[in-house]
Amino acid sequence: METAIYKVDSEHIDKSAIVACAKIIKNGGLVAFPTETVYGLGADATDKTAAKKIYSAKGRPSDNPLIIHVARPEDAERYAYTCELYYKLAEAFMPGPLTVILKKKDIVPAEVTGGLDSVAVRCPSHAVARELIAATDVAIAAPSANISGSPSPTCAEHVIGDMSGRIDAVIDGGVCDIGLESTIVKIDGDKVTMLRPGGITADALGCVCEHVEIAAAVTEALKADERPLSPGMKYRHYAPSAQLVLLDGEDSDVTEFFANAQKNENAAIICYSEELPSLSSEKVIDIGARDDLATQAQRLFSALRESDGFGADIIYAHLPRQEGLGLALYNRLIRAAAHTVKKI
Ligand code: TXA
Ligand code: MG
Repeated sequence: METAIYKVDSEHIDKSAIVACAKIIKNGGLVAFPTETVYGLGADATDKTAAKKIYSAKGRPSDNPLIIHVARPEDAERYAYTCELYYKLAEAFMPGPLTVILKKKDIVPAEVTGGLDSVAVRCPSHAVARELIAATDVAIAAPSANISGSPSPTCAEHVIGDMSGRIDAVIDGGVCDIGLESTIVKIDGDKVTMLRPGGITADALGCVCEHVEIAAAVTEALKADERPLSPGMKYRHYAPSAQLVLLDGEDSDVTEFFANAQKNENAAIICYSEELPSLSSEKVIDIGARDDLATQAQRLFSALRESDGFGADIIYAHLPRQEGLGLALYNRLIRAAAHTVKKI
């Protein structure tokens, strides 16, 4: 299959590209498109045959459900049973990087939800995503547009590298703003449980909902016999082919460790901007300034892909603090490292 590439400027959206891609989706095809979090691999959320194509293009296990993307929060009504708390969350955070798990309606096939009776709903804020969903006039089911197990794509080049020849089209809308996937929450009565941290932090959720819980699997490894709240929690994610090791210690000690590793090992380093002057410039990636978590989030998946390309035996990075957006960085890095942390 030849994959068509449409370059679209999100400030001046080329409507003809959107119409062409909406047509592909309506005809049961697959289109990768930019969102504010990461690129999604989209198909008609009411078409089970199209949903199956997503799983085979990604090599994704069929019990790992997809998020459906709607143009407006109230469009969720067509696909799911909403509640007051859904609309409170929607008013505060949608459109934006929040996904809410709701009980599904029959229109959503079991192939989309991995057989669950719930469905994950998200209303993205990216202008291209919104135009595409509106033009398609149906919810778009979309996981991240990467091969299963590799880091989520934050630019069209990542998508093309993973998916070229496997899908009908890619809309190239540049680099994603946030760079980490959406925050996923589950509603239980008046309580919200965070299943995956992302751009909407636990503190932000706490401003809307009194009872916010963070699922243990966000920070800890699942036990062998544990049934996860979200099927995606049980899969190893974002795994570079070299072992990633996270360093837990004082910043100055970590910088010294990095410098020694460069001398003594075939190591790649993911460091803060402030550390660059203390390190050799070989196999080094600047993730952003120490306190600039937004930049670190935006660059993380690119950094993992890039560091993997160095042919190093080992990759070292800082262990993030589990606060604010740091919790999302921690969650992605700890899984990419298969929970390998070195105390120094
Ligand atoms: O930012 C995002 O959320 C991106 C963009 C494209 O929207 N999408 C994304 O999709 O990250 P994906 O498929 O890579 O991750 C979706 C996660 C999986 O871990 C899945 O298990 C969980 O959402 N999920 C989906 N439906 C669920 C459900 N009904 N109950 C529990 N977890 C669910
Ligand atoms: Mg994914």
